[in-house]
Amino acid sequence: MAFGAGHLADGFGRRFRYLRLSVTEVCNFRCTYCLPDGWKKTAPLSFLTPDEIARLIGAFADLGLAKVRLTGGEPTVRKDFTDIIARTAAVSGVGKVAVTTNGWNLIRQIDSWKAAGLTHLNLSLDALEPEAFQRITGHDRLVSILTGLDRALELDLQAVKINAVLLRDTGERGFEDWAEFVRHRPVSVRFIELMRTADNLDFFNQNHVGGGVLRDWLEQRGWTPVDRPPDGGPAQEYSHPDYAGRLGLIAPYAPGFCDSCNRLRVTARGKLRLCLFGEGGVDLRDLLIDDDQRPDLIERIRGAMSGKRLGHFLAQGNPGDLGNLAQLGG
Ligand code: 5AD
Ligand code: SF4
Repeated sequence: MAFGAGHLADGFGRRFRYLRLSVTEVCNFRCTYCLPDGWKKTAPLSFLTPDEIARLIGAFADLGLAKVRLTGGEPTVRKDFTDIIARTAAVSGVGKVAVTTNGWNLIRQIDSWKAAGLTHLNLSLDALEPEAFQRITGHDRLVSILTGLDRALELDLQAVKINAVLLRDTGERGFEDWAEFVRHRPVSVRFIELMRTADNLDFFNQNHVGGGVLRDWLEQRGWTPVDRPPDGGPAQEYSHPDYAGRLGLIAPYAPGFCDSCNRLRVTARGKLRLCLFGEGGVDLRDLLIDDDQRPDLIERIRGAMSGKRLGHFLAQGNPGDLGNLAQLGG
């Protein structure tokens, strides 16, 4: 460890060894709950370069970082994305390199991402039925995405997971299709409760359903909750003896959701964001210009931690200043 810092914790004793790094705000999909009119350019596209990303992750690694998730926007629209994976994987101490993607380019790229050091893949996939998929995302790529997923499952990654946003019309029919999907595939499908952002209030009011619908469905059919690993994420997964994969729920509105928060976020423009649903951020970019700035960078990251609040205020109707999740990664 170059500067011997080694530890990052907030005022509530939570340790942070997991960084979610957005590498772009651009997305090529138009998901109804996120970017219904497509992504629009509102500022120059000056996202962190691979050198800046390597410096940033190097500093967090000195602070005990063990896992990085590359996200967006859609991170894989960047032409240098495979290089970004390689630069991330090369930082010592960072054993887990994860990517969240909508899968548009999965079949063409997954082998090179794996070769570059990818260890974990999360695919965002909201429907298994081509028409529903097209209605939600604005794209007709379902078949290629599913082929890419099956390729990913052959590659011996440490984990392959699917995230599906729980929408009112997903309903029980959807759960049945997903259960069938994981019958022979060793993949976890986690339903995320729709989150309210600054931009999606009407959509949220029409489409939000609580996770209890899924919980009841699972429990009535013999699915049982799997113990959560101590440093695992917020998902409660369920298994069933007749199924190779798992189904699960991420319920950001549930009480206690934030207690085990283990993650920090950095935006594609280099701002440290302490909570998805917070406000503002601490700019780090002026300290990413040169390797020699690392001690100052570490000091700024440490100093920012005192601002991390215990939880979000979503349930009180305050989504923070986040317009949509493409702005800084889900
Ligand atoms: N609520 C819940 N999940 C969302 N995502 C994007 N916007 C929202 C929202 N408002 C999800 C994506 C993907 C992940 C990056 O975040 O579908 O699974
Ligand atoms: Fe959909 Fe993710 Fe793109 Fe938002 S960022 S439109 S959720 S694919």
